[in-house]
Amino acid sequence: MGYFISFEGVEGCGKTTQIKLLHEFLTARGRSVLLTREPGGCAIADKIRAILLDAENHAMSPLAELLLYASARAQHVAEVITPALEAGRIVLCDRFFDATVAYQCFGRGIDRDTIAVLNTLACQETTPELTILVDCDPHIGLSRARKRIESSQGPREERFELEALSFHQRVRGGYLHLAAEEPNRFVIVNGDDTIETIFAAISEHVVQHLPEELRVIC
Ligand code: TMP
Repeated sequence: MGYFISFEGVEGCGKTTQIKLLHEFLTARGRSVLLTREPGGCAIADKIRAILLDAENHAMSPLAELLLYASARAQHVAEVITPALEAGRIVLCDRFFDATVAYQCFGRGIDRDTIAVLNTLACQETTPELTILVDCDPHIGLSRARKRIESSQGPREERFELEALSFHQRVRGGYLHLAAEEPNRFVIVNGDDTIETIFAAISEHVVQHLPEELRVIC
C-alpha cells in the first residue's frame, strides 16, 4: 500500500501552494505521487464540484450540499484514490473528509453522526494517514481568496467565499477541534508564516512520517 496525506484549512490559507511544493519535492526524490483534490479529482466529481461551488446555487440546502460532497467523494475514492494507494503511490489530496466535518457540521450545523455515516460510506476503508492543517485567521485567508477569484480567468468558484466571516471562524474552530481529537494524524502548521517557512515545517513532518519503503532524504 502507498501513503495517503490530506491537506486542510480555511479559504486562502495557502494549502494549495503547499501541496504543489510537496508534490515537486517528493517527485524530485523519485517517488510516484498522485496530486488530487476535493471536491473533484475525476470527471464525474469535477462536474459535481461545478454545481457545489457555483455562486448562483445560493438556494442549495445544507443537506443537498452534504450529499453532493459525499457522492463526489465516493466516486473520487473508488476511481482515483484507492487504486493509486493499491499501486503503492503517495496520494496528496487537497481537502478530504475532514472538510465535510469542518464545513458541513461546524459551519452549517449538520449533525456529526450523519456526516460520519456518509464519510464512512464514501471512503470505505480509505483514510488519510497524515493530515496537514494549514491554520490561518479566516479574515486574512478570505481576503487572499477573494483576490485570487478576482484575478482568475476560469469559472467563479466563490459560493463559500461569499459566506460571512463568522461561518469561516466556525470552520477554523472545527478544524482545530478535529486536530485536537486526533493528534497522531494531524500536524498543524502556521499559515501566517512565509511560504518557505511553512514548507520547511511540512516537508520535515512528511519525511518523518513516511513509511520505511517510501522514505526520502531531504
Ligand atoms: P477549495 O476552495 O479548497 O478548492 O475547496 C472548495 C470549497 O468546498 C471550499 O470552500 C470548502 C468546501 N468544501 C466543503 O464545504 N466540504 C467538503 O467536504 C469539501 C471537500 C470542501
